[in-house]
Amino acid sequence: EARRGGRRSGLTFEPVPPNSLDDVVVPDGYDYEVVVRWGDPILPGAPEFDFENQTAEAQSKQFGYNCDYVAFFPLRGSGRALLVVNHEYTNTELMFRGFNPATGTSPEDPERIRVELMAHGISVVEVRGRRRGGYEMVRSRRYNRRITAMTPMRLTGPAAGHEWLRTEADPGGRTVLGCLNNCAGGLTPWGTYLSGEENFNQYFVNAGAVEDPAKRASYERYGFGETLPDFGYRGWERVEERFDLAREPNEGFRFGYVVEVDPFDPESVPRKHTALGRVKHEGAETTLSRDGRAVSYMGDDERFEYVYKFVSSRRMARGNSRRAREHNLTLLEEGTLYVARFSGDSPQQEIDGSGELPSDGAFDGTGEWVPLVSGEESFVPGMSAAEVLINTRLAADRVGATKMDRPEDIERNPVNGRVYAALTNNTRRGAAGNPGPDEANPRTNNKHGHVLEISEEGDDPAATRFRWRVFLLCGDPDDPSTYFAGYDKDQVSPISSPDNLAFDRRGNLWIATDSGGALGQNDGFFAVPVEGPERGYLRQFLTVPVGAEACGPRITPDQRTIFCAVQHPGEVDGASPDNPASRWPDGGQPRPSVVSVFKTGRGERRIGS
Ligand code: FEO
Ligand code: CA
Ligand code: CA
Ligand code: CA
Repeated sequence: EARRGGRRSGLTFEPVPPNSLDDVVVPDGYDYEVVVRWGDPILPGAPEFDFENQTAEAQSKQFGYNCDYVAFFPLRGSGRALLVVNHEYTNTELMFRGFNPATGTSPEDPERIRVELMAHGISVVEVRGRRRGGYEMVRSRRYNRRITAMTPMRLTGPAAGHEWLRTEADPGGRTVLGCLNNCAGGLTPWGTYLSGEENFNQYFVNAGAVEDPAKRASYERYGFGETLPDFGYRGWERVEERFDLAREPNEGFRFGYVVEVDPFDPESVPRKHTALGRVKHEGAETTLSRDGRAVSYMGDDERFEYVYKFVSSRRMARGNSRRAREHNLTLLEEGTLYVARFSGDSPQQEIDGSGELPSDGAFDGTGEWVPLVSGEESFVPGMSAAEVLINTRLAADRVGATKMDRPEDIERNPVNGRVYAALTNNTRRGAAGNPGPDEANPRTNNKHGHVLEISEEGDDPAATRFRWRVFLLCGDPDDPSTYFAGYDKDQVSPISSPDNLAFDRRGNLWIATDSGGALGQNDGFFAVPVEGPERGYLRQFLTVPVGAEACGPRITPDQRTIFCAVQHPGEVDGASPDNPASRWPDGGQPRPSVVSVFKTGRGERRIGS
């Protein structure tokens, strides 16, 4: 085991070889158990899952579809915890027989649509440790909760109540039904759950019929289809009129926010915080500045979109008093929203798109956090604070922020203080009519993505200046355009499309991938030290079944369990219930599920050992 300066990675597991197996594959000496599957009953009175006869009433009390972000909140002194999970989207073609994606119809309509509304959102599930390792679900009456696409939520912050957020059903512009496409998220230091609404445009039709040209232009910038969405047409407007922008032109502005949920209070109303801006939010991992303010790092996951951060105006209150909690629950309602501008330190002609390092030996440079809005004050000419927060992409365009290769999770490493950003991929970088390579996004046709390492000035998350460098250029290590922080490429695992990030207690970086088979292998988890002689020694820890994306990762505070959300198993072109591409996890139709992974046998139980 390598060590330097007393720092050991502690990563000694045998890597899992690339494979295309229809199972979760873990290293020797490890095992996994399914904790909760799509359709498992989680609320009192919920029926058992019945694929052939699913109903909205059942789904509203069962675990939702396409589990993504996973949070773990220990319940003090009980050995139990709350698992909180996003349900990003529905694979209608895998959930129902006979679905026609061209018309957005199925033989079971309209009940099929109501099921999908209930399969979106968030689940809160109580779990308890198993003797053997890992966790199992508890059908808790106290905490278990389903949040769906129909759950009332409150808009907060400077844009709440703005004219663009008012609808016929909600003339005050402050109450929205549901959250959509919740992808990654964040944990707050005050013990709440954050969830990012990502590709919310795909649920709406008829943006081209909106009369106001400013609204129409905004919808276009966010990728709303003029008639039907570009992908994933589900026909929801036939059950919920508000998804037809010809009938409710403002409904689309009420999605695309970071949602905060108090998992310990099942009666609490989820809140959409406009102060954190409206983009296709991946996550919002949150830490504290040196003076105790909340800092949330956020990616807008689309090609050539931006990296953001929010810094709260007020400091977090310490302690467990009711007053402290009430104060902390308001922190994300007021603050400053920044967007990142990256500058390289090498001549642009040395950044030729091949991935070859420039003559100074690094893709690196400096950067600044450009303020867009602070409280009610806008820094963007011609836009009010509320307009910046609703049309955040348009505001960031105006200040010349850096166009990135699909920003996903961005998270501060609690051990070394640096911030890591996953740029998942961008095959259009350098293509005709698109931006070419720059030092922070140095490869043309960036098929496999990269990871940046950011050092905030003074190691303060609230700083407005930073230094950065490319940590990984992903791909098959035989591909000369790859880079693993300078580590010997003969020893690392192939990796494509980094998405979700996490850190273990020693500060090693854990990466979940979402490649759609770009390297001809299943997606999975990877672990890589960021310090010492093993910096860049990236190894595959786990793989997920055919067609699935690996989400999470979540390592428990005792370091003995890692959760993986297996999203969309069997999502393969042409797959359907009559022709499934995966039979995971139970031999029937594929079911998105959360698994816990743990060590077996005697000795060291720490994940990664
Ligand atoms: Fe839903 Fe950005 O991955
Ligand atoms: Ca994601
Ligand atoms: Ca350089
Ligand atoms: Ca992704």
